[in-house]
Amino acid sequence: MRTLDDLDVKGRRVLVRADLNVPLDGETITDDGRIRASVPTIKALAGRGARVVVCAHLGRPKGQVNPKYSLRPVAVRLGELLGQDVAFATDVVGDSARATVEALQDGQVALLENLRFEPGEDSKDDAARGAFAEQLAGLAELYVGDGFGAVHRKHASVYDVPKILPHAAGGLIVAEVEVLRKLTEQPERPYVVVLGGAKVSDKLGVIANLLTKVDRLLIGGGMAYTFLKAQGHEVGRSLLQEDQLDQVRGFLSEAAERGVELVLPVDVLAATEFAADAEHEVVEATAIPADREGLDIGPKTRELFAAKLADAKTVFWNGPMGVFEFDAFSGGTRAVAEALIASDAFTVVGGGDSAAAVRGLGLPEDGFSHISTGGGASLEYLEGKTLPGLAALEE
Ligand code: 3PG
Ligand code: MG
Repeated sequence: MRTLDDLDVKGRRVLVRADLNVPLDGETITDDGRIRASVPTIKALAGRGARVVVCAHLGRPKGQVNPKYSLRPVAVRLGELLGQDVAFATDVVGDSARATVEALQDGQVALLENLRFEPGEDSKDDAARGAFAEQLAGLAELYVGDGFGAVHRKHASVYDVPKILPHAAGGLIVAEVEVLRKLTEQPERPYVVVLGGAKVSDKLGVIANLLTKVDRLLIGGGMAYTFLKAQGHEVGRSLLQEDQLDQVRGFLSEAAERGVELVLPVDVLAATEFAADAEHEVVEATAIPADREGLDIGPKTRELFAAKLADAKTVFWNGPMGVFEFDAFSGGTRAVAEALIASDAFTVVGGGDSAAAVRGLGLPEDGFSHISTGGGASLEYLEGKTLPGLAALEE
């Protein structure tokens, strides 16, 4: 993959695809991790005298202009972090974008409006995507792919534009790929993976692949209840994906055959309802009352998971252990994060949501070896899939 050092950018318009998909509360950015992660590449380009045109998506506006998903607040924050003004185009490839780009001087930075306001960006139709890619590419002379969190999307700005413009990978993508390569090529053992989050179905591919690679797989979060059910336990009103039970039974037997330790919760916080102030109690994971739902792993599980992480040499963690947005049910996620911080393993937190959870709980980012900006992207990498955005940069 070519990197920034291979491009002569002085005085040239460089289109940078970044992942600035941050959580917003109205117009307030609640976690700016992805913007901060995008700064070094943009700064490096501006510092070398490029005219930097940043493009990115926010949420899933599905090809429609929707002010709720405007990147304007992100332009403001990006400007603060860069310490220089960021011109904001109020459209993606229209009059505003062209005029904004035209006005850029060497070393200046602009941000285009949300790519996904344009139906061509995420169209499944190659021609529609290609036509939009041509318009986007027309704004610049060079392309830098740096939106690691979106490299698993076959979208115009990720996949098609680098086929049109001379291109290179930005520093964030280079760093993320280096870390993931370490996890897939001869990780130091014991290699322990912790998976959480709501849906097993999102993680089927990665679980199947990890069972051939890891020494231990710890499962928490909403997806753990489908595993408990597959073992024959009742899970009350907890999250359950009935249609995944067969698949999960297959994972349980494959883990046993391969000698992979698959560790499930032994106790949970069982609540009367899904609410921040829900009444709840600690129950054995094998005895969840019929009228209750598990919203976090319990204290014995936290200790068990910490013990299973203590001697690890490599750890990858994706997905919260419970409903961490509710204080009362954030303890399990915090406990896993603290176990990673305490360990001297090579520790990787994968994912927009897990990363936001870590920061939201006030935990120190430097307690981890690497916090990835990509959730879906890092999981698909570990699954062994070809990521369109990386493949396009390699060509
Ligand atoms: C993410 O938040 O995972 C990335 O920004 C990709 O967004 P998407 O899942 O909406 O494609
Ligand atoms: Mg996401």
